[in-house]
Amino acid sequence: MHITAYAHTNIALIKYWGKLDGVCNLPAVGSLSLTLDNFGTQTTVERIDAAQDQVSIPLADAASHARVIQFLDLVRTLARSSQRCRVVSRNDVPTAAGLASSASAFAALALAATKAFGLELSPAELSRLARIGSGSAARSILGGFAHMPPGSVGDAACYAHSITPAPHLDVALLVIPCAEGPKSLSSREGMRHTQATSPYYPVWVATHSADLTAAIQAVEKGDLIILGERMEHSTLKMHATLLAADPGFCYASSTTLAALQAVKALRAQGHACYFTMDAGPHVKVLCEGAAASSLQQHLFDHMLQAGLPPKGPILRAHPGKAAHLLPKVSA
Ligand code: PMV
Repeated sequence: MHITAYAHTNIALIKYWGKLDGVCNLPAVGSLSLTLDNFGTQTTVERIDAAQDQVSIPLADAASHARVIQFLDLVRTLARSSQRCRVVSRNDVPTAAGLASSASAFAALALAATKAFGLELSPAELSRLARIGSGSAARSILGGFAHMPPGSVGDAACYAHSITPAPHLDVALLVIPCAEGPKSLSSREGMRHTQATSPYYPVWVATHSADLTAAIQAVEKGDLIILGERMEHSTLKMHATLLAADPGFCYASSTTLAALQAVKALRAQGHACYFTMDAGPHVKVLCEGAAASSLQQHLFDHMLQAGLPPKGPILRAHPGKAAHLLPKVSA
């Protein structure tokens, strides 16, 4: 019997960047994310009688392949089983948009693999498990806004939980592709390098919780302006730690900078829109849901006029739901 699960991508509004512990992925700082409806990963897990796991995941290098097998070992330990699995995974994400993250991949794998082994885990237990696959995956177990505490609460309490937004908070996220091809440094490696060498890293950790607390309160009060301001501050601080690493590193392309300027220019004209960037060149823009479609066009036009248009169509997403099982989907 095979089990298929679907988990949506999430984007951190207040970033996780740095680990307390490399094995269990205990984050050095908390984070706040938005799970997105349009993008995600579908994963089917089937227990098989074979000597080795059979893993088929898109664009996977040897290291990602090994991480999936390690994760399956973890699930087998929980289930007290040594049975191998066939894993088939598919990403619903345009590859150029930089959204094909490990977040939805490990969240979908956590749900499908535990069910395949007959384990019934609560969302908290699933989130904790997904975190061990990838820190950001802990948040993709949940829909909408999710808060992940820092690892200092301890492994058992380090899982994501939902934040209930004020009913009037209507948000969307636009994704501006700002480069072609794969990114130059993985989030895992970028994080490790920053933590090891950046003099700004301790400041990042020390100043982080103020942004996180303010952003969570802004979601609960439905204050898009405060949320957007804290979001921009968080991403710029995160990228500053990388610029100050030794050697320094920059994920932004010239198109990234054009996108940031477009967001600022449109905001100056009265549009409520705010940017964030992850470990890659692409820019994500938080805005009002009702204004998302017109903003999509304005951003494109602004960047085109500046001579640095987006590297692909600007994508639009709204808050998405929690990771879930799909009935009777064949691999
Ligand atoms: O858990 P990872 O390796 O996908 O790291 C995520 C790092 C950022 O995307 C930059 C920030 C975040 O909180 O998602």
